[in-house]
Amino acid sequence: MEILRAENVKKYYMMGENIVKALDGVSLNVERGEFVSIVGSSGSGKSTLLHILGGLDVATEGKVEISNIDISKMSSDELTIFRRRKIGFVFQNYNLVPLMNVYENIVLPIQLDGIKPDEMFISEIIRLLGLEEKMYAMPNQLSGGQQQRVALARALATKPAIILADEPTGNLDSKTSQDVLGLIKMTSKKFCQTVVMITHNDEIAQMSDRIIRIEDGKIYGDNMV
Ligand SMILES: Nc1ncnc2c1ncn2[C@@H]1O[C@H](COP(=O)(O)OP(=O)(O)O)[C@@H](O)[C@H]1O
Ligand SMILES: [Mg+2]
Repeated sequence: MEILRAENVKKYYMMGENIVKALDGVSLNVERGEFVSIVGSSGSGKSTLLHILGGLDVATEGKVEISNIDISKMSSDELTIFRRRKIGFVFQNYNLVPLMNVYENIVLPIQLDGIKPDEMFISEIIRLLGLEEKMYAMPNQLSGGQQQRVALARALATKPAIILADEPTGNLDSKTSQDVLGLIKMTSKKFCQTVVMITHNDEIAQMSDRIIRIEDGKIYGDNMV
C-alpha cells in the first residue's frame, strides 16, 4: 500500500536576480512500513523536501499525496489538522515542550485533537523505548538520547501515516545515534510504521531499508540497502 507519493516537486527561491532551485523536480513513492533514508550533502535540498512532504512548507510546483490525500492544495488550517493526525515529526533538536513532563509531551498531539489517548498503546511505546522510569521527568532532566526517545514516542503515539525525521541523530554521539536508530527501526517494523529520515551520515543511513540520494535538488540514486 502506498503511503507517500511526490510528483515532480519543485521549490524555487528568488534571491535578487537569481533563482535558487532548492528542489528541481523530485518524484518518489514510499510504501507502508518502509524505513527510508534521504542522504545528500549540506544544501542539497533534504530539509526543503522533508518540510514539503510534511506540509510544513509549500512547493512552487508539483504534488504531494499522503495516504492518497493530496496535501498540495490544502489551506493552512486544513494542513495543521492533517499534520497533527497523520504525520509524526522528529527533529534534530527534539522540540519537546519544556514545561511538560515526558508523559504530557508524548500525549500532547493526541490531546490537542480532543481525543482520549489509547493508554495501552502509549504504555507499550513507553516500555519499548525504555522510558518507564522517566514518565514524570521534565525534558531538561533528560540526556539528548532520552529526549529523542521521547520525541519518537510522541511521533508514534498518534499512529500517524508517516513519521518524518530531519537529522534525528544530528545532536547525538555515535553510540547514542546507533541506539536511537535501532529504536526507530524496531518500532517501524513492529508497528509497520512508515518512516522517512534525513541524515548526512552514511553509517546511519545503512540501517534503513532504502537510501535515496539527493544532490542539487534532484534525486540521483534510490536503492534498497
Ligand atoms: N528560505 C530560503 N530562502 C532561500 N534559499 C533557501 C531557503 N531555504 C533553503 N534555501 C536554499 O535551498 C537549498 C536547499 O536547502 P536545504 O533544503 O536546507 O538543504 P539541506 O537540508 O540538504 O542542507 C540551499 O541552497 C539553501 O540555501
Ligand atoms: Mg537540512
